[in-house]
This record gives sequence, structure tokens and C-alpha cells, in this order.
Amino acid sequence: MIDTHCHLADEVFEVDLDAVVGRARAAGLTSTICILAAGDQAETRRAERVRQLWPEAAFAVGVHPHQAHQCAGQAGRAESWIRQGVSEGRVCAVGEIGLDYHYDFSPRDVQQTVFAEQLHCARAMHLPVVIHTREADQDAFAMLVTEGAGVAGVFHCFTGGIARARRALDLGFHLSLAGIVTFPKAIELHEVAAFVPEDRLLIETDSPFLAPVPYRGKRNEPAWVVNVADRLATLRGVPRSAVLARTTENALQLFGAQAFARVDTPRASML
Ligand code: NI
Repeated sequence: MIDTHCHLADEVFEVDLDAVVGRARAAGLTSTICILAAGDQAETRRAERVRQLWPEAAFAVGVHPHQAHQCAGQAGRAESWIRQGVSEGRVCAVGEIGLDYHYDFSPRDVQQTVFAEQLHCARAMHLPVVIHTREADQDAFAMLVTEGAGVAGVFHCFTGGIARARRALDLGFHLSLAGIVTFPKAIELHEVAAFVPEDRLLIETDSPFLAPVPYRGKRNEPAWVVNVADRLATLRGVPRSAVLARTTENALQLFGAQAFARVDTPRASML
């Protein structure tokens, strides 16, 4: 079982990271993908501890659309951060990257430039991408076609209905479902959960955000990906073990099995 998207290097886990990782392993998780904000040195330092406590953990690094403004007018900054992360650590994906027009923390043209740059970078480095897109579907899908041709990846914390799912699947992308699928009112997403082909399905928590039922409102953690898997099993009419086996296999295929291999030798600097 792999939680394919969490933010374990976030400062909210600093106080009890060892307990959080312990509970994840006790719940049966073999690994996770810890998402890092490119260029964030504090988070990068905390990632070192994630790696020590959980040697099987993999990492993804990217400039989130919220932070795109940090790269405004500095062509290549996002790319150089990513290349540095890849060269020094066990980064298996570029992400999370995309467009967020809900918060608009960065100007839209800047978000687009930085997103395009990172899609090109992922293609050049043969890495999959982890997509975050919110209220920006028209531009995001168009850019995945024009700038991201040939790039594989996942729509993380997928929300929306069948039509949107179909668009992402038609581009060859995986869909990753998070705690929202456990919410009783997420009817559209329940339909998607039953609809996604089994070879395109991934599970995640997006910890510390969006805790699943029955933990809603609490700080989320990777162990609770089990609750996402349980809900998916019910919605798809299959045993939980089938969901876990298939989503794990899909993660190994998309991100590369070597990304989750145990690494015991700590490096001086990971990212
Ligand atoms: Ni996230």
C-alpha cells in the first residue's frame, strides 16, 4: 500500500513525525511519495528526516502554482531547482505543478509560464508529473496537450465528475483519489471512483490536508489512506485487498519501482 501524495516534510509533522511514520507502517503502508516545494530550504531540511525515518519513501519536487511568483521573470529557476533535487535525491516525479485560479496567489500568466517550463523539464528528464489544478481546467488541459505532449502523470486529489475524469484519462493520465471520496456528499466523485479503469487508479491522503471520514477536520496522515481504499473498495464492489494490490502496482509502474526501494545510506544532503 502506497500513499502517493503527502506532505510529510510539512512543519505540522515536525513534532511527532516518528509516530506518524510508525502508524503508517503499522497500517501496512510500504511507502509514500512525499511532495516537496522546490526551493523551500526549510522543507528540504525536514525531508532529510522523513528519509531517515522512512527509508522507502520517495519524493517529488516542483514549484506549486501558489509559489510560481517566486520564479516570475527568472526563466529556468523552476527547472534548476528540479534538476538539483533530482541530481541529489531520489526524486521520482515533478510535482505538484499546475494552475490554481481559485486562490490566484500567483498571476495567471506567471503560473502558466512556470507550469510549461516544468512540463518541458519533466519530459526532458523522463519523469512523470503530479498535477494540481483548480478552477483552471480549460487552460490546464490545453497546456497538457501543447506543452506536455508525451508526459505521463497523475491528477492528484482528483475531484469532479465523469466528464472531467474522461478528459484526464484520454490524455493518458492516472487519477488519484483522496479523502474527499469518503465524504457522503461527494456524489460525482463516487461515480468517478467506480468508473476509473483499474490500471489508472491511485490512492493518496494529501496529508496534512483533507482527512477522510471518520477523521474529518483533523490533521490528516498517511495511515488513513486505508480509509480511502476502503471507500473505493465499496464503490467499486471489490475487496479492499484488490484495491490495494492494484493501486500499489500502478504506483510502481508510473513512478518506477526503484523510487520505493529501501535506501539505508543517508546522504549528506538529499536535495
Ligand atoms: Ni498536495
